[in-house]
Amino acid sequence: MEQETPRTTGAVLPATFGQVDLSALAAREGTPLYVYAAPALRERVRTLRNALAGLDAGIRYAVKANGNGAVLRLLAEEGAGADIVSGGELQRALRAGMAAADIVFSGVGKSDAEIALALEVGIGRFNIESRAELDAIQRIAAARGGQAVAAVRINPDVDAQTHAKISTGKAENKFGVSIAEARSWFDAKAQWPNVRLDGLHMHIGSQLLSLEPVREALARMAAFWKELEAAGHAIASIDVGGGLGVRYREGEQAPDAREYAAAIAQALAGFGGRILVEPGRWLVAEAGILLTRVLLEKRGEARDFLVLDAAMNDLLRPSLYDAWHDIVRIGDAGGDAVTYDVVGPVCETGDTFATGRTLPRCEAGELMAILGAGAYAASMGSTYNSRPLPAEVLVDGEHYAVVRRRQSLEELLAGEQPANDWRRP
Ligand code: LLP
Repeated sequence: MEQETPRTTGAVLPATFGQVDLSALAAREGTPLYVYAAPALRERVRTLRNALAGLDAGIRYAVKANGNGAVLRLLAEEGAGADIVSGGELQRALRAGMAAADIVFSGVGKSDAEIALALEVGIGRFNIESRAELDAIQRIAAARGGQAVAAVRINPDVDAQTHAKISTGKAENKFGVSIAEARSWFDAKAQWPNVRLDGLHMHIGSQLLSLEPVREALARMAAFWKELEAAGHAIASIDVGGGLGVRYREGEQAPDAREYAAAIAQALAGFGGRILVEPGRWLVAEAGILLTRVLLEKRGEARDFLVLDAAMNDLLRPSLYDAWHDIVRIGDAGGDAVTYDVVGPVCETGDTFATGRTLPRCEAGELMAILGAGAYAASMGSTYNSRPLPAEVLVDGEHYAVVRRRQSLEELLAGEQPANDWRRP
């Protein structure tokens, strides 16, 4: 989380972005511009796949982290399926070529229409989060004359030791159900004949930098799976969720994929079914940057500000979670160091990317990169302050492709109309 005391970040651009001429790219495509590195995406998914190699395990990428179609297609080509939380994400995953059978549907509030769509396309599995949802899936599956495959999302009541807004595995959180409630569902399974309840699911939080909470939650899941099997309930799948953290700043220690896989293997030793993992951030965060230009340097009464052309509507994480993102100046590293508050042009004090950040002195027009912007960045963007959504490009070697063109003002305004057509509801 952000510190008030000035410090030098020592941040450097990941080597994978060094192969493209970012200045030329920004000049051509404009800023703010999201840039994703295809080799970095491939490397992450392969590393995870290798780490899980000894297990019967599948990757279900959490689409919410970065749902860009080209990113999804690349991950699909590497064998990933998807974890989705809406009809929109389901359509994205299918359009990117993911098989419906390789998609799991999570989320605490699924609409009837979304459940029906998921059944219609033959989704792999629902992760059910409440009794009301179980009843709804039963009703909709029965009406269609089919059977839904489902897991219960367990809330293991474990503190994931992460930011409160992205911690999901404590009893007071809205997610999942207690082991006691899940047990009662399995015992009364016959009440839901159109739901094949044969899986367990958990997701205790995001940006986990310690595996201890994961181990603790897995131990509870494992004990429950064993209890269920002893009671005659076959468990075909255990989905351990996502959450694996990444290193956003120097000194942060993120667990590596092998350690993570080993924790899963150890906790679930003897499990004969399929293991699913739902990473989002870990696969994509470090494969993305946000290129932005300095609009101006402003020497304030109390602090010096660096005003960028990117803002909180483009990258919300610092405003919402006080999240740290490294910021680097593209080009030569020279010049004296200045301590800046790095901000965007949006009319809120919260539109701040960094407070008291030491950077080389920057001038208007200079190109900057905000790092770690591949996850929960473009996907959380909005058009607040009537700022069109930025373009996104995928780079591979010396080449790049625009994978989302910059939104035009016409597109931003499309759908709005004057109040001429007055009707009765
Ligand atoms: N599975 C489920 C059910 C989830 O809710 C999530 C994320 C994931 C998997 C993937 O988690 P990951 O591996 O990415 O940590 N906007 C926040 C993060 C919100 C995460 C929501 N759920 C941020 O910018 O930090």
